[in-house]
Amino acid sequence: MQERAFKASGSTYEDSLKATQLVPSLYERLGKEFGMETLSTLFYDRVFADSENQWFLSIFASSTKSEAIDNQFRFFVQIFGGPDLYRQKGKGKYLRLSGRHANYPIGHRAADRWIMHMLNAMDEHPKLAINENAADDETVMIAETIEAMVAYFKYTAHYIVVASEYMRDDQLSGGTRIDEGRVW
Ligand code: HEM
Repeated sequence: MQERAFKASGSTYEDSLKATQLVPSLYERLGKEFGMETLSTLFYDRVFADSENQWFLSIFASSTKSEAIDNQFRFFVQIFGGPDLYRQKGKGKYLRLSGRHANYPIGHRAADRWIMHMLNAMDEHPKLAINENAADDETVMIAETIEAMVAYFKYTAHYIVVASEYMRDDQLSGGTRIDEGRVW
């Protein structure tokens, strides 16, 4: 699966891990809770405005924007070195992204569109802006942060697609399962 995710994304599993191992952490670099929430808000603003691509937007039909932002930003805080906000929402200690996405019709084309929105969100993020007057070491650090995030997002998005083919019903975790009557 790692090989297939690499072929589809161009990022290796090892490169994808860097975002979770940075020192200082990605959580610190992006500005803690506020910075992570900013990223998820910028991202989901783009997703929910993607009305030209109904096939993509329809994947999010059972979610509200605010709930989607809340889930995603808590997840990012938790995996990128901050407190376990995702677990605190009752999402479980384990992250199991493939299980949480397996009920959605997500193929490689959707992964690419997801990545495109995330790269655009990153472009707008104040902590990822390279300021011409910044010191060299600050610029190097931002470049390192961006590189690690891009590898992580590309690999993970395509891994979700590859892994969904191998999911068994009993591996689907509560997370994003489309529960009857529930608006996510
Ligand atoms: C491959 C393209 C992807 C698509 C189309 C997609 C779609 C979705 C949808 C429809 C939801 C439900 C929204 C909600 O929470 O209300 C969701 C939830 C979520 N997604 Fe994705 N996603 C993708 C990739 C990713 C990636 C790469 C990550 C992380 C790096 C991610 C992290 C999450 C998280 C943390 C949740 C919340 C899960 C929960 O409720 O516990 N997704 N995604």
